[in-house]
Amino acid sequence: MARVDAPDFWDGLYATGGDGWELGQPAPALVDFVEQTPPPRGRVAVLGCGRGHDARFLATRGYEVVGYDFSSAAVTAARALARRDGVKVEFEQRDIFTLGREAAHTFDGVWEYTCYCAIDPARRGDYVRTVSAIIRPGGWLLACFFPLRAVNAGPPFPVSRAELRRRFAATFRFERAQPPLRSARGRLGREWLVFARRT
Ligand SMILES: C[S@@+](CC[C@H](N)C(=O)[O-])C[C@H]1O[C@@H](n2cnc3c(N)ncnc32)[C@H](O)[C@@H]1O
Repeated sequence: MARVDAPDFWDGLYATGGDGWELGQPAPALVDFVEQTPPPRGRVAVLGCGRGHDARFLATRGYEVVGYDFSSAAVTAARALARRDGVKVEFEQRDIFTLGREAAHTFDGVWEYTCYCAIDPARRGDYVRTVSAIIRPGGWLLACFFPLRAVNAGPPFPVSRAELRRRFAATFRFERAQPPLRSARGRLGREWLVFARRT
């Protein structure tokens, strides 16, 4: 098993301040997209939700949100922050790769940010199958894929636009694919925002 497949690996990073991905706020790419062109409201899954900033943001914009993360540290923090802010959002401690069977077609949408790059690249096919399974036909995937260039051995493991198009082509139609209006600090030029429909 690759080390990134184990919740302990991520719990350790949360515990030791190794969470260099932490923004302390929702991703700018998500905020801009939802404020300018909100996807249809409905039930939305946030995969690898971390401390849940994006999940809380979506919930405040009228989406019914479930955040999934297999790190107990992440889920504990996410629940505490939702309580602090009085935001109604559900967080479940769970390996996202178990969702395909149990949550088939139960979501209208998925938000992806820094989960795809966190999993073992050998499991990217499984990731696409999971996302394809949980979104109902006609539902949507909003994703900000990162990083388009590697800066270290990973995680985050680099992504490429060609690879993403190839992997998602069988089950999604890309409606928009562009650099986000704003990127998180230090990520400018390395993010790619996609809005795609489940076919
Ligand atoms: C790089 S962090 C990003 C967290 C959050 N998306 C953010 O932007 O702050 C990746 C997160 O994905 C979670 N994760 C990785 N693999 C997972 C899996 N197979 N199932 C559930 N969560 C997973 C980790 O525990 C970690 O919280």
